[in-house]
Amino acid sequence: APDIPVGSITAHLSQLQSIASANGGNRASGRPGFTASLNYIKGRLDAAGYTTRVQSFTGGSNLIADWPSGPSGPTVMLGAHLDSVASGPGINDNGTGSASLLEVALAVSAQRPSLTKHVRFAWWGAEEQGLVGSRYYVQNGGASGVEAYLNFDMTGSPNPGYFVYDDDAALQQLFNSYYSSIGVPTEPERVGDGRSDHAPFKSAGVRVGGVFTGASERKTAAQAAKWGGQANQSFDRCYHSACDTYPSNVNTTALDRNADAAAHVLWALAVGTVNPPG
Ligand code: PHE
Ligand code: CA
Ligand code: ZN
Ligand code: ZN
Ligand code: ZN
Repeated sequence: APDIPVGSITAHLSQLQSIASANGGNRASGRPGFTASLNYIKGRLDAAGYTTRVQSFTGGSNLIADWPSGPSGPTVMLGAHLDSVASGPGINDNGTGSASLLEVALAVSAQRPSLTKHVRFAWWGAEEQGLVGSRYYVQNGGASGVEAYLNFDMTGSPNPGYFVYDDDAALQQLFNSYYSSIGVPTEPERVGDGRSDHAPFKSAGVRVGGVFTGASERKTAAQAAKWGGQANQSFDRCYHSACDTYPSNVNTTALDRNADAAAHVLWALAVGTVNPPG
């Protein structure tokens, strides 16, 4: 799998910060900072050859991007919510996942690997209003054909933990195999069940996975011993706050690792050659 360049991800985060600053300090669903964020991501994808679609719903919109080559049918899908809360620019939550998936998508278009699955990306609206965009997508048939959905919500927390969703054992193992290859221990993500955009897919019977670096919960002494950082402090002290800004509220090491993990799992699931019959 490609090594996703973290400098390209942080360049997108800088742009998302500028967008928030120019639009009242937020990128919340239904507000101009969200529309500008969506147009930013969409423009990069269109230029790279993706087939993009904006799906509007009451209170917001989703951006869906299909990679046009490779087989149709069985689909591997990766998603991140693009909206922020109204109280801040939403850089760790969730500029990080959004910018990382843009770079993973651009790695697909740059490498043009042979694919065994259809590959689709989504940037959700109105996650912060209760998973509204992802629920709308699934309720309108979006989960059809999706064999695996991978979610990226908060992947660069400033005092990071390395949490891997435990919803599906095989997908959890794929993320863990990347993490063991770089010698970083992980913990299963349990508290997040139902708290992000994988939940509607899971409810629809789709296998789901993902990674998370922690929100307002505090890192324990045992976690600080294995991961570094500050014991007894929040993973993200600026969670849902005005101080969720770039660059101060992002750990670029965690951001880089989780983007590389996303590429590793996507390549494991969707890249290869289909065996010829006989
Ligand atoms: N969905 C939460 C938010 O956006 C963050 C979260 C993600 C919590 C994953 C748990 C697991 O605020
Ligand atoms: Ca990298
Ligand atoms: Zn949030
Ligand atoms: Zn979030
Ligand atoms: Zn790999």
